[in-house]
Amino acid sequence: MDSREIRARFLKFFEGRGHAIIPSTPLVPENDPSVLFNTAGMQPLAPYLMGTPHPRGVRLANSQKCVRTQDIDEVGDNTHDTFFEMLGNWSLGDYFKEDAIKWSFEFLTSKEEGLGLDPRRLYVTVFEGNDDAPRDNEAFEIWKKYMPENRIYFMSAKSNWWSPGDNGPCGPDTEMFYDVTERGLGDMTKEEYMAADDRQEVVEIWNDVFMEYEKKDGKVIGKLAMKNVDTGSGLERIVMAIQGKDNVFATDLFAPLMEKIKELAGGEITDMRASRIVADHVRTGVMMIADGVRPANTDQGYILRRLLRRAVRYADVLGIAHNTLAELVPVVAEKYVGIYDNVGVQSALIIDEIRKEEEKFRKTLERGLKEFERVSANGSVSAMNAFQLFSTYGFPLEMTEELALEKGVTVDRAGFEVEFKKHQDLSRAGAEQKFKGGLADTSEMSVKYHTATHMLNQALRMVLGEHVQQKGSNITAERLRFDFSHTEKMTDEQKKAVEDIINQKIAEALPVTYEDIPAEEAKRRGAIGVFGEKYGDIVRVYQVGAGDQRFSLEFCGGPHVTNTSELGHFKIQKEEACSAGVRRIKAVLG
Ligand code: ALA
Repeated sequence: MDSREIRARFLKFFEGRGHAIIPSTPLVPENDPSVLFNTAGMQPLAPYLMGTPHPRGVRLANSQKCVRTQDIDEVGDNTHDTFFEMLGNWSLGDYFKEDAIKWSFEFLTSKEEGLGLDPRRLYVTVFEGNDDAPRDNEAFEIWKKYMPENRIYFMSAKSNWWSPGDNGPCGPDTEMFYDVTERGLGDMTKEEYMAADDRQEVVEIWNDVFMEYEKKDGKVIGKLAMKNVDTGSGLERIVMAIQGKDNVFATDLFAPLMEKIKELAGGEITDMRASRIVADHVRTGVMMIADGVRPANTDQGYILRRLLRRAVRYADVLGIAHNTLAELVPVVAEKYVGIYDNVGVQSALIIDEIRKEEEKFRKTLERGLKEFERVSANGSVSAMNAFQLFSTYGFPLEMTEELALEKGVTVDRAGFEVEFKKHQDLSRAGAEQKFKGGLADTSEMSVKYHTATHMLNQALRMVLGEHVQQKGSNITAERLRFDFSHTEKMTDEQKKAVEDIINQKIAEALPVTYEDIPAEEAKRRGAIGVFGEKYGDIVRVYQVGAGDQRFSLEFCGGPHVTNTSELGHFKIQKEEACSAGVRRIKAVLG
């Protein structure tokens, strides 16, 4: 069974059990400044797990594109990759542990409808309990219907409590592991099982989270109004289990890429870890660029840059000819034909971006490596030198750290951060914090800015013309940033006109409401914005002002304020060019 069939079977299995199949959202969350990338299937669904009704109902399933880079150092081993797809099914206050566990087991083991995995190779963990929640005897009892008791292990919150960050829905989970050894591990005590896990002889293939609790500022504060199920199964790992491989790079998802890397390296792979790193980083880079990320020194662009530059360095370890990494792009795109078609459609652009980034880095890489040797000769790299390697030679800090580790010298990371902060809007510390995960920022101020963004979009169309389209948006609790298609600099009069319209609409105290309606109906009513990708047929539209007073109608998942009077005074702080044909506005509410 190949990855394509496995993905399709998963969706069909849950569709057959009443789940609406929703498309993957793009890798970069919209209007969510708390994370740089989706790191789990539940992330775009956070508001719905907290109680907002989802337009497609209470049972959902999909395959969600995700990126996690906190384990980047482990890429190269058997199971870690930075881009992955997460298969997931959700119950929004509908079914709970009984069905969730039954379906997980059925899908994994059924030959007809599922994957036909050998149940004798399965192991399960459940939550042992702590001050926040009791031992999960319920899950244990349910599992006993499917599994011998001695393969169900009670584990602590460290491994069996799942939350996406410090705020939002969370709960105990039950995890399923599969024995990927040739010999077969058989019955194991808990200690033996944990040792097998350390050796990657069993790999986690699915996690069912029973999301009935809420976290605030890192503490579990009580139960949610409803009991949800959030499951996640890494496609790459499932494929590995099915295809009888002991590493993800040997599966059909990576094999053609590994082959191509071997070819570029002259027909022989001298360093397996290096080739896995190249495969993983280029694949992730391709998926990021397809979803609109471009190499840069901050935010998502920095993560992309770091991955591509690291790939360049490891391409050199393999003896791959310079400036040929982009040749891997079509091999990646091929895997996602009919799944994520935006990859293939944009492959010329992706090739161009990767080629440009490689060429750019190559201009400084060699001299940078010499400089690194020079400045590290005394056993440590100072903050100033690390910063200079970054600013002059384009070395991401992590690359300098990696080189330092290989050489056995230290790097003054804290000092670097100070230097970096002086030179950049966003500190790396900030980026890392964002990256660790978290929920949609639904703080009061961010919600206000979100509504203001809709009003700005509409006002710009009124003042500049209907060609104005949203090209990007980024909201924090301090300001909004809005990118839109327009070729000329706005005049002071135009800016004032936009502000006046918005402040007028705030003064009118217009209600803000939403409706879930078919996409066609929304378009007929003149809704603006891009939504098609997100929810399929039934879409949510937010309306500012009702009836004759309607000011704006836009596809959106929310959340928003309920009345424009909550916004205060709107002011444009800056209007500037962003990229060709795109302008950027920064605005504040006071
Ligand atoms: N959200 C859960 C996870 O990522 C399912 O493991």
